[in-house]
Amino acid sequence: MSSNTAAMILAAGKGTRMRSEMAKVLHPLLGQSLVEYSIHACLELQSTPTVIVVGHQAQAVENQLSQRFPGQLRFALQAEQLGTGHAASIGLTQIPEAEHVLILAGDVPLLTAATLKALVKAAEAPAALSLLTMRLAVPTGYGRILRHGPQNEVSGIVEHKDASEAERAIQEVNAGIYCVNRAFLSDALSALKQDNAQGEYYLTDIVKHAAEAGRLVRAVEVADPIEVSGVNHLGQLAELETALRRRINHALMLAGVRLEAPESIFIEPSVTVEPGARIGASVHLRGQTVVKAGAWIDVGSVITDSVVGEGVIVKPYSIFEAAIVEKEAIIGPFSRLRPGAKVMEAAHVGNFVELKKTTLGQGAKANHLAYLGDAIIGARSNVGAGTITCNYDGYGKHLTELGEDVFVGSNSTLVAPIQVGDRAYLAAGSTLTDPVPADALSFGRARQTDKPGRAVSLREAAKAKAQAAKAKK
Ligand code: UD1
Ligand code: MG
Repeated sequence: MSSNTAAMILAAGKGTRMRSEMAKVLHPLLGQSLVEYSIHACLELQSTPTVIVVGHQAQAVENQLSQRFPGQLRFALQAEQLGTGHAASIGLTQIPEAEHVLILAGDVPLLTAATLKALVKAAEAPAALSLLTMRLAVPTGYGRILRHGPQNEVSGIVEHKDASEAERAIQEVNAGIYCVNRAFLSDALSALKQDNAQGEYYLTDIVKHAAEAGRLVRAVEVADPIEVSGVNHLGQLAELETALRRRINHALMLAGVRLEAPESIFIEPSVTVEPGARIGASVHLRGQTVVKAGAWIDVGSVITDSVVGEGVIVKPYSIFEAAIVEKEAIIGPFSRLRPGAKVMEAAHVGNFVELKKTTLGQGAKANHLAYLGDAIIGARSNVGAGTITCNYDGYGKHLTELGEDVFVGSNSTLVAPIQVGDRAYLAAGSTLTDPVPADALSFGRARQTDKPGRAVSLREAAKAKAQAAKAKK
């Protein structure tokens, strides 16, 4: 790729048909906003600069994008939306030098970098520009490609609203994605007029300009129209999301990842899944998640920004967020790992156990009904059912530190800050507030007392009382 290709993404339009308060290009599709897909494709081609033309909700778009792509983008403000040609002129002010300029729309997320590369190649001299086209059985709404002459060369684009009946029958349409010689673009844009049905400056008129100047226009037809399909309403957003999921899931399966009921699985493009992993139905993998080889994530789990180590088993309906699970650990069913949860090798986390900012040591177990927050649990320790770390006093968070091989009896309450030494044994039902030394057996509960036979007299007294009350009525 020649280093002197710049890019601009037109993203100033309102997107009225989305019927949403949010700017159209910020609508999320599998975890990223629509416009981010176009940006990733441009950056993959090393287009510099990559300019975003913003207008509607310009500040919101610019804020989000400069956060996601720090220092990688330039912004150009189109305060009034006078058409795609006008938007391109404004974008061009941010591109002082370049041999070619890629022009993309901000609402066409499935375009691949490979197709863009083919487009750039087609624009190389002596062409004035290249553009992507597709053939549609129902071309309504799109600009139609006009061809003339013995070679059937592209000679213009006519917008649907401006087209004659005969022109409307043309099924070859403009995808709205171009690669244009920088010098030609500058000339052609300054010659644009608003003499059309919509009273706009049409970027598409540069094609006619090229043909009239005897310059070559190359059309690159995309095989699958979904690649250049745009989002105009929420129905199309859902359709493209399904198509993108299929693309991602298919690639993973070809690479050796087992997906069960792939149509039900959501894997975001930012996720890494190693070959040999197995993913159950209705699993969602989000953000910067990494799933290592041999891991098995069973039905219905939702995993965000987490690392699932080699050979880990995640049983159904477990939820992770910013957690790390090391190899051979077993999690779930119904486990919740919150940010900062770290489950070491071969440790077990069972049903209705919640971990937050907690390290569960190698081979340690918390198998049932527990809340472990701000805690360090040593290797091979066993946390009984119903154990709670009281980490919060209403003002600040405090640490619970358990040594190795500790046994925590069921229904224990550990009031932090607290330290428990190695091999200590905490009696079931204890509430502990003070440090426990290593090897100690520790009780923090009322003593049991038995009163022989007292249950009989207690029952009789209760019965008599109930009968007396009934007689009174
Ligand atoms: C455009 C093309 C049409 C093509 C279609 C493909 C023109 C005149 N027509 O039509 O030939 O078939 O795309 O989808 O270009 N935008 C701005 N500022 C503006 C106007 C638009 O930034 O003043 C942006 C929009 O946000 C959008 C893109 O440009 O991302 C395309 O604009 P849109 O209004 O959707 O053009 P279409 O009518 O779809
Ligand atoms: Mg459009």
